[in-house]
Amino acid sequence: MIRILIVILLTGTASIEAGQTEIIEGSDKLHLRNSIESEPRQDAGLSEAAYKKVYSYTRNTNAFKDFSYEQMKARILNTSSWVPPAELQKSFPYYHAGYDYEKRPVWVAEIGKFDFRDIVAKGDKSIAEAKRYLFQAVLNGIFSIAAMDTEEQEIKDTFVIFDMEGASIKQLNFLPSWVQFAELFGKYWDLVFQLLGRLVIINANYVTKLATDIARPVVGQLMERVEVYGVNRNVWLPRLLKHMPIEVIPSWYGGKKNFKPISIHG
Ligand SMILES: *[C@@H]1O[C@H](CO)[C@@H](O)[C@H](O)[C@H]1NC(C)=O
Repeated sequence: MIRILIVILLTGTASIEAGQTEIIEGSDKLHLRNSIESEPRQDAGLSEAAYKKVYSYTRNTNAFKDFSYEQMKARILNTSSWVPPAELQKSFPYYHAGYDYEKRPVWVAEIGKFDFRDIVAKGDKSIAEAKRYLFQAVLNGIFSIAAMDTEEQEIKDTFVIFDMEGASIKQLNFLPSWVQFAELFGKYWDLVFQLLGRLVIINANYVTKLATDIARPVVGQLMERVEVYGVNRNVWLPRLLKHMPIEVIPSWYGGKKNFKPISIHG
């Protein structure tokens, strides 16, 4: 798998001119998290229902199938009560925007601004922390699903929006990141498969499109649940509104001015 990645990466990047590598920074989207207080951490207060919900997924995965319920609980508590290093939180924020018409939680991350290369380049400790951070994000996602479960209806997956604004070739053109990605996906694909109902990628530039092409053979069937849109809001906003009320759409994507996420993390 990794060899295929290398070939695609080399042929892919060969066609990209230099000089397009700057990262767009300073957009005010992320200022949002400074103006709204994050929810208190849930650590001690996790309900049995929340643990059970996580276990209902993990027991069907290769990586966790041998964990007993009690072992899984310990693992969940360990991860969800962990306070990530400030730098990680600052660099990788994400938020729970609301729920779609199918009562699936809608999560948004400005992936285009994330510096994966920096994390990976810093080595093992940094990579291990980032994985723990990612697992914590997955748990937050599952808790948000569990919150909508009722006796009549069980919610199973999430609606995820990746904003790729600012995505740069500097992120793409770094093989160790792809090796990490392939390893992570190889290990946890069956968890992702259960949790990701739909992934809508917006503001995709040529870098994102290239990244999608590289990821395609790795993520395989999952691509059926992925929609990729460019920067034209007139194309993707109506698409989002088919799935969710306008209140769930952040104001900077065309939602209402008083938009307020359910929770902000990182
Ligand atoms: C919690 O997880 C961390 C990182 O994976 C690990 O180093 C630590 O030993 C764990 N703590 C407990 C009590 O299991």
